[in-house]
Amino acid sequence: THWKHGGIVGVLGYGSGIIGRYSDLPEEYPGVEHFHTVRVNNPSAWYYTTAALRDLCDIWDRHGSSVLNVHGSTGDMIFLGTTTDELEPTFAELTAKGWDLGGSGSAMWTPSCCVGKSRCEFACYDTMDLCYQATQNFQFEMHRPSFPYKFKIKCSGCPNDCVASVARADLSVIGVWKDDIRIDQSAVQAYAGGELKPRGGATPYAKLDVEADVTSLCPTYCMSYDGKKLSIDNKNCNHCMHCIDLMPQALRPGTETGATLLLGSHAPILEGAQMSWVIV
Ligand code: HEM
Ligand code: HEM
Ligand code: SF4
Ligand code: SF4
Repeated sequence: THWKHGGIVGVLGYGSGIIGRYSDLPEEYPGVEHFHTVRVNNPSAWYYTTAALRDLCDIWDRHGSSVLNVHGSTGDMIFLGTTTDELEPTFAELTAKGWDLGGSGSAMWTPSCCVGKSRCEFACYDTMDLCYQATQNFQFEMHRPSFPYKFKIKCSGCPNDCVASVARADLSVIGVWKDDIRIDQSAVQAYAGGELKPRGGATPYAKLDVEADVTSLCPTYCMSYDGKKLSIDNKNCNHCMHCIDLMPQALRPGTETGATLLLGSHAPILEGAQMSWVIV
């Protein structure tokens, strides 16, 4: 079918969170003459109980198409496809279970984050806390579109950027360290000898060639290895995470940690994806 863009539908008191979609050919496709999207605020770092997921699926079975896209770029769970008369009943059931709509349109969109300190040793700040605080702080801006365009905030605990914020957030908050990468030289030897597997075993290689796989692939060439000792010229490290990801038991981010703010990634159709910039 062909879809008409937009349409003014919503629930009482909210300017965001429901996106109207209507088919251009309602007689030919009577099952999808309306196919509105409901955006539901994700929990920080996407932690759910199975009971909560069952509730959400049951609500959508009762009121919509049953099709969900749970962890998208928007920051929300996307409930795809329902009719106008089902919107208020869906919203009533969601809020009764403690869920809320997220941002859409020319508004603050629901912030999202990586698992951060809840599970990841690389996290340089508490991503879940920032995501939660930003969500609370921007409630008005999320529910009542008052910007010229959408605005997305995404929070990653380290430069691995597991929420891909540099490619798809207006404001990326990326955890980083200022001091030196912590090195355990005996663990470096264990990687070189094959007792420790590269990248926690997630590569096909039985053992790491520290020179070929790590130091010579450092993008700023600030590392060296003489067969016994690994050295890093930390002032030239750009925190790319390559060496740390390969040898997580030997190398760790420093201890003087914080975050870098980047602005402005977007995906214009003509020029293609553009990454966020650090504004100095
Ligand atoms: C006129 C029709 C439609 C238009 C103009 C439209 C437009 C959009 C836009 C602007 C976004 C947000 C992208 C962003 O994150 O910034 C989006 C997201 C999305 N749309 Fe549509 N859409 C339409 C119909 C549909 C239909 C019919 C479906 C599925 C049956 C669909 C599935 C999705 C999904 C899954 C996302 C979420 C992507 C993500 O979170 O990464 N859309 N759409
Ligand atoms: C064998 C079948 C399929 C495979 C192997 C597959 C694989 C993938 C992969 C690799 C991604 C990218 C995930 C990421 O890194 O962000 C993705 C995203 C996605 N897929 Fe599929 N897919 C399959 C079928 C489907 C079907 C049948 C649908 C919908 C009816 C679907 C809807 C989506 C959507 C909406 C996303 C974007 C999620 C987001 O918003 O980030 N996929 N899929
Ligand atoms: S972005 Fe960094 S801190 Fe967050 S989950 Fe990924 S590796 Fe861990
Ligand atoms: S984090 Fe990247 S730039 Fe820094 S020392 Fe390791 S490989 Fe080199």
